[in-house]
Amino acid sequence: MSGEAVIEVRGVRTAFGDHVVHDGIDLDVYEGEILGLVGGSGSGKSVLLNEILHLISPTEGDITVFGHDISDMTSDERDELDRRRGVLFQGGALFSQLTVLENVKAPLRRHADLPNAIMDEIARMKIAMVGLGQEAAGKQPFDLSGGMRKRVGLARALVMDPDILFLDEPTAGLDPIGAAEFDHLIKQLSDILNLTVLMVTHDLDSLFAVCDRVAVLADKKIVAVAPPRELIHHKHPWIHEYFSGPRGRAALAGEGETAQTLSSGGTGDS
Ligand SMILES: Nc1ncnc2c1ncn2[C@@H]1O[C@H](COP(=O)(O)OP(=O)(O)OP(=O)(O)O)[C@@H](O)[C@H]1O
Ligand SMILES: [Mg+2]
Repeated sequence: MSGEAVIEVRGVRTAFGDHVVHDGIDLDVYEGEILGLVGGSGSGKSVLLNEILHLISPTEGDITVFGHDISDMTSDERDELDRRRGVLFQGGALFSQLTVLENVKAPLRRHADLPNAIMDEIARMKIAMVGLGQEAAGKQPFDLSGGMRKRVGLARALVMDPDILFLDEPTAGLDPIGAAEFDHLIKQLSDILNLTVLMVTHDLDSLFAVCDRVAVLADKKIVAVAPPRELIHHKHPWIHEYFSGPRGRAALAGEGETAQTLSSGGTGDS
């Protein structure tokens, strides 16, 4: 981590009619880190991600990415930002009628003016990079397993060589082994490619396996940001519940922690 914030969220408030989803969100994502974003279902994680991606606008507040206020960019600046980020949306969002190769090539077609053969070559390299065999290239998404489809989504997210990767629930729907493999892949790629990663997840195993820090979205705010181990004893009721439930205990057991460590409590002031 270099200490430089590449994403700065300040005072974000989001309301859909009377329904207030965010009420004063502040968050920094630092260059080179993997930041996990957790929170209950419906707490507004995907909405916050989509605001950072400028796919929707917050009701109030400011979001800066690479020093640019994203609500105030020229179309060139927006295009440049688009090229510097890769996104794996919740659910994958692959084009079901296109082959894997065409799916992975889609951002290149949009942003890069390259001969088709070169785009093919780049896309095939990314397909290999995420651990898929070249035979996958000609298949359609529905011919692949869930884990393979996630890898295709990741290859597409990486095809423009982004600086930031956004992942929304990357391991949802995968079995534990598939999820662990995918976690490992994300960690490995982020190290090799020097990526900054913002990852929305429910998956406690993922938090411990890959995240440098974890931000918790609860009560319409970011109530804590800390390395995962430091959150174990946090007093906030949602955080406590999250880490002390059965999934929390299982993840901690994998980390060499025990249920006793948890129930004995801690200072809670992380
Ligand atoms: N376009 C919209 N119009 C109205 N309400 C919306 C819209 N988009 C999201 N919401 C509401 O905002 C809240 C937050 O949704 P969001 O999808 O961000 O939750 P989440 O934390 O990602 O949940 P999950 O863990 O289930 O993915 C929900 O109550 C949702 O119904
Ligand atoms: Mg979501």
